[in-house]
Amino acid sequence: MKKFFLDLGKQPLANKYLKKFRSNQIKYSLRIYFNTNSKLVSISKRIPSHIMFNAKYPYRSSLSSTMRYAFKNLSKEIKSRFNPKILLEIGSNDGALILNFKKKNVIGVEPCKNLARITKDKKYLTYDNYWNFNLAQKIKKKFNSIDLIYSANTITHISDLNNVFKSINFLLSKNGILIIEDPSLLECLKKNTYDQFYNEHIYIFSTISLKTLLDKFDLEIFDIKNLTTHGGSLRYYIKKKSNKNHKINKKVKIQINKEIKYGLDKFQIYKKFASNVIKSKIKLLKILNKLNKDNKKVIGYGATAKAVTILNYCNINNDLISNFVDTTPEKVNSYMPGKNIKILRYNKNLLKKFDYAFLGAWNFKKEIINKEKKLIKKGLKFITHVPNPRIF
Ligand code: TMP
Repeated sequence: MKKFFLDLGKQPLANKYLKKFRSNQIKYSLRIYFNTNSKLVSISKRIPSHIMFNAKYPYRSSLSSTMRYAFKNLSKEIKSRFNPKILLEIGSNDGALILNFKKKNVIGVEPCKNLARITKDKKYLTYDNYWNFNLAQKIKKKFNSIDLIYSANTITHISDLNNVFKSINFLLSKNGILIIEDPSLLECLKKNTYDQFYNEHIYIFSTISLKTLLDKFDLEIFDIKNLTTHGGSLRYYIKKKSNKNHKINKKVKIQINKEIKYGLDKFQIYKKFASNVIKSKIKLLKILNKLNKDNKKVIGYGATAKAVTILNYCNINNDLISNFVDTTPEKVNSYMPGKNIKILRYNKNLLKKFDYAFLGAWNFKKEIINKEKKLIKKGLKFITHVPNPRIF
C-alpha cells in the first residue's frame, strides 16, 4: 500500500529553464509516498519522459571536475576489476564515463538528442533512445549479450522499473555485471535533503527497496560502495543469482542493517522526515528574510534542479535571492524554473558584488569552497540548508 508523507507543493519541470520568466509556467504537484510492501519511496505525479528528457536537456555531467574525476576513477576500476569486452551505459549523458573507454568497447544510450550528439560526434556508438525492452532487443540482435551494464542517476528517472530490469536481465550475459548508482535514501533522510525530490527523480532507492525489486528478476547485489557524489550515493554491484563467480560482500548486509536500524522499512520515519522538512523551510526563510531586512545582497550558487524544489517549495523570489550563477551554458540567461530569478554566467567579479551565496549545488560544496577561497577570505559567506539551514 502506498502511503503519503510529504507535500512539496506545486513544482515546475525542474530542468525547464525559460529564457523569459512566465508566471504561468506549468506546475505539477510534488507529493511523496512510501510503499509499505515494496518499501519504495516515489513521487505521485508521473510526467511523460519525452517532456522531461528531450533535445533541450541542459544537465551535463562533464561540467564538474568532481564528476569527471569520479567517472575517470570508475573507468579504471571497471577495467581492472571486470575487464568487460563491452560496456553499455544507460544514460550516457555527454560521455563523462564512456569517453574513458576505447570506442570499440562501449555503447551509450542517451535519449536526450543534444547530449547523444556529443558522443556520436566523437564516433562513439550511441543510441539516442529511451531505455526499454524494444531497445534491448535491438542491441541484442547486434551484440548478442553485454557483460557490463552501468547506469548512474538514470534508472530512478524511469517510471516502469519492471520494464527497466526485464530489459537489463534480457541483455546481460550469464556472468555479466550490472552497476548502478543513485542517491541514497538513507543519506537523504539523514541530511534532510528534500530537494533530492523533483519531477525527474521518480524514485529514491534504499538498498532495502532495490533488493526487493531485484529479487523479482533473479538479480542480487554482491557489493556496495558509499559515494559522496550527488550528496551521498550508493553504487550497487549486481549479478544474476546463478552467477557464482562473486561472493556477496558483507558490506551489503551492513548497509541493509543500517537502513533497518534507521527505520527505512517503516512508515514512521517518513512522517518524521516530513516534519523536519517543514522546520527546514521555516528556518531557511527566517535567514533569508533577515538578510533581506539588513539589505544584504544574496545570490544563488549553482542553478541546480534541486534548488528549483527549494525555491518553489519555500516560495523564494528575487527579493530574497536576486540571481543565480551557473557555469552551464544552457542555463545562463534563463530563469530558475517557476521563479523570477535570472541565472547569470558564472564569473568571480560578479560574485564580488554579493555578501552571501545560497549554495544550490551543495553537493559540490568542497569543490566550490575550494574555488572561492579568495572571495571567502574577503568576506563572502555561504548559506546552506544541509543538514540544517545556516550561514557558514
Ligand atoms: P547537479 O547538482 O544537479 O549536479 O548540478 C550542478 C549544477 O551546479 C550545474 O548546473 C553546474 C553548477 N555548478 C556551478 O555553476 N559551479 C560549480 O563550481 C559547480 C561544481 C557546479
